[in-house]
Amino acid sequence: SKTGLILGIESSCDETAAAVVRAGSEALSNVVASQMSLHANYGGVVPELASREHLRNIVPVVREAMSRANVTFADLDAVAVTEGPGLAGALLVGITYAKALTLGLDKPLISVNHLEGHIHAVLMETRERSESPLELPLLALVVSGGHTHLYLATHQQGSETWTYRNVGRTVDDAAGEAYDKVAKLLGLGYPGGPWIDALAPHGNPRAVPFTFAEIKHRAPRPGITNKKAPANTEGPHFDFSFSGIKTAVLRYVETHNMRDTIESRRAALAADPTLTPKSEAVTKLCDQQTLDLIASFQYAVVGNLQRQTFAAAEAFGAHSIVVSGGVAANTELRRRLQAEADRRNLPIAFPSLALSTDNAAMIAAAAWPKLIAQNFASEDLGATPQLRL
Ligand code: KG4
Ligand code: ZN
Repeated sequence: SKTGLILGIESSCDETAAAVVRAGSEALSNVVASQMSLHANYGGVVPELASREHLRNIVPVVREAMSRANVTFADLDAVAVTEGPGLAGALLVGITYAKALTLGLDKPLISVNHLEGHIHAVLMETRERSESPLELPLLALVVSGGHTHLYLATHQQGSETWTYRNVGRTVDDAAGEAYDKVAKLLGLGYPGGPWIDALAPHGNPRAVPFTFAEIKHRAPRPGITNKKAPANTEGPHFDFSFSGIKTAVLRYVETHNMRDTIESRRAALAADPTLTPKSEAVTKLCDQQTLDLIASFQYAVVGNLQRQTFAAAEAFGAHSIVVSGGVAANTELRRRLQAEADRRNLPIAFPSLALSTDNAAMIAAAAWPKLIAQNFASEDLGATPQLRL
C-alpha cells in the first residue's frame, strides 16, 4: 500500500497516546489519555503509578485511535513507538505493545525519539495546511517539562533522512520544570505552566527585578562547551539555566513573608477542584504582590528562551524556527518569539495547542520519513530512558 498509514504510540511520561497519521501529514485520529489528575496529588509524575496507568490504558487508547480513524490493523503500513527519552517503565509499556502488534501483524516497527517527535508535530501541521515547507536548516526549540533543547535540523535534498545537531540545552532544570516548581511553591495547581500563563497578564513583569543577570551568571556563555553537552558538539553552544530563577522566587517569598497567603491559596484550591487556570475567579486567589511575582518570573524565563534561541538562529544561519513541547503552549512565549521573528523576517512555526503537549500524532509523523527510507527497528528494541537526539 502507498497510503503511508502509520499508527503512532507514545507512553514516555504521563500520557498514554495513540494516533493514526497518513503520510506524515494528516492525523486521522489523535487520542490522549492523560494521567494528570492522578499525579496532581503528588505535584509531579510518580513513575510507578505512570507505568500502571499506561498498562491500564494502552489497549483502549489504541482501539479508540483505530476506530476514530476508521481503519483496521490490516490497513497499517507500520507501527511507530517512542523509544526514549522518558521513564523506563512507562516507555516499556508502549514498546512491548508495539512489538507484539507488529509481530502479530507482520508489519514493520519504527522507533522514534520523543524529541524528534515534538519537532515533527510542527512539520506535520505545516503539511496538513499545505503550506510551503519551512526553509532549512531550521532551528528547533523543544521546551517541555523534561527538556529544553535547541537543535539545528535539516535533510539533504532528495533524502528523507533528517539530521539533528544539538546546539543548546539546559544545564539544570527544564523550563517547564521551573514553571511547575514555582507554581507549586506559590500554592498553585499542577501542572504549573497553564496557571502561570493565565495569571501572569494580571501582574507587572517589571515589578520584581529578576534581572536577566540573575539567571545568566549561571549559564555558560556561548562558545564554551559545557560538560553536559554531547561529545560530538562543536562550535558555540547556547545553554539555558532555570534553577537560579526558581531559587530567586523562593528567596523572594521568604523575605516578603508570603507563606500565609500561599497556604491559604493552596487550601482554597484543594477545597474547590473545579477551579482551573481558565476559571474567572482564579485571579481572586492571588494578591497583587503574587501576581507581580508570577509575571516577573515568566518575563525572565521567556526572556532567557528568547535570547538564546535567536542568538543560536543567528550563529548557525537558521532559515526558520520551530517551537514545540508543552511550554510552547505558553501565550507570552508565543507572542514574544513571534514578534522577534517578524522583526528579523524569519519564519517561525508553533504547533496547535493540542500538539504542543505529548501526543502520538507527532510520533507517527516523525516515523513517516523513516518508513520511506525503510529505516525499521529490530525485534529486540528496548526502552532507552536517556536517548539523545
Ligand atoms: O511536552 P509535555 O506535555 O511533557 C513533557 O515532555 O514534559 O510538557 C509538559 C510541560 C509542563 O511542565 C507544563 O507545566 C508545561 O509543559 N506547560 C506550560 C503550558 N502548558 C503546559 N508551560 C507554560 N505555559 C503553558 N501554557
Ligand atoms: Zn514531551
